[in-house]
Amino acid sequence: MGWVRVCAEWEMKSVRRFDHAERSFALFRLPDGIYALDDICSHEYSRLSEGELWRGQVMCPKHGSRFDIKTGKVEGLPATRPVHTYPVKVEGELVYIEIEDEEW
Ligand code: FES
Repeated sequence: MGWVRVCAEWEMKSVRRFDHAERSFALFRLPDGIYALDDICSHEYSRLSEGELWRGQVMCPKHGSRFDIKTGKVEGLPATRPVHTYPVKVEGELVYIEIEDEEW
């Protein structure tokens, strides 16, 4: 699939949900850049884009698992599996994420 346009860079606040081809992604703005994860928690069904941010981590709103926003790694139970991360680039005024075919 390749690079997919998400939004204008100025529209990117601290969190943005992005739906594309029946999938949901969560983009987070940290001090050193923008990062993208699967929006759906790896534990059960809940949206990480609706979670609280804390020190580079996002806390799932349903049961409180914490994930590292840069790596998708679990930092707090009950989730045990990481969430997938996606490369992000800002080109000109636009934010893109890279979605590979094999991830679908
Ligand atoms: S659904 Fe996210 S921690 Fe349970």
